[in-house]
Amino acid sequence: MSDTDLIRLESVTRRYREGARSRCVLDGVNARVAPGEIVALLGRSGSGKSTLLNLIAGIDLPDAGRILVEGRDIAAMDERSRTLFRRHRIGFIYQFFNLIPTLTVAENVALPLELAGHPDRGRVSRLLESLGLAGRANDDPDRLSGGEQQRVALARALIHEPTVLLADEPTGNLDAETGEQVMGLLVRLVRERGATLVLVTHSPEVAAVADRVWRLADGRIRDEGGAGS
Ligand SMILES: Nc1ncnc2c1ncn2[C@@H]1O[C@H](COP(=O)(O)OP(=O)(O)O)[C@@H](O)[C@H]1O
Ligand SMILES: [Mg+2]
Repeated sequence: MSDTDLIRLESVTRRYREGARSRCVLDGVNARVAPGEIVALLGRSGSGKSTLLNLIAGIDLPDAGRILVEGRDIAAMDERSRTLFRRHRIGFIYQFFNLIPTLTVAENVALPLELAGHPDRGRVSRLLESLGLAGRANDDPDRLSGGEQQRVALARALIHEPTVLLADEPTGNLDAETGEQVMGLLVRLVRERGATLVLVTHSPEVAAVADRVWRLADGRIRDEGGAGS
């Protein structure tokens, strides 16, 4: 394997307990992502896609195996280092936006900068403007349409310029046209910033924009390559 991999999964295993027995959701997953790649992660419901994203984010820990991001083993970090790693390196976009209802649009987007100790109102305004949300900065998120809310979530995931962006069915709760617009923005911003994206999707159209396609089944990833490989 190359030392230039941005993400590397080595024999990653994750089991969940079911009563007295345990179920192996990920069963020795091996995979790699190069810097700047967009990876589409496909697989039926319950196949372990969200589990895999949570492991890459350091939100969850594997039972065995290693997850390297920029060469650093996430599971081997202490809790504090892992939290800092996540705050600085990871952006996460969810299907149901997960905006904080008691904060304004701008405050939601500013949150990762606040947590990192680098508030920057100018940066927040510029990003909101580039996403067509300049006029919504002081609104409550629940006043916005689904597509607008997901654009806010996109801004929040990117504001701190993470190395790795993880998106769990980001268009799954949007109509087809709105979903296409959000995907277009997501891909544009990821490419502009040279970020790396792992994206869970059920949509063949969305998967078609990826550099690489992973199919998760029976606890393993099948790397189906991509248009360019
Ligand atoms: N915290 C948990 N405790 C027990 N089982 C879980 C937990 N999280 C996920 N699972 C189980 O692991 C499997 C994979 O879940 P998930 O990663 O959410 O799949 P997907 O995102 O592909 O639909 C499912 O069978 C789910 O029920
Ligand atoms: Mg899921």
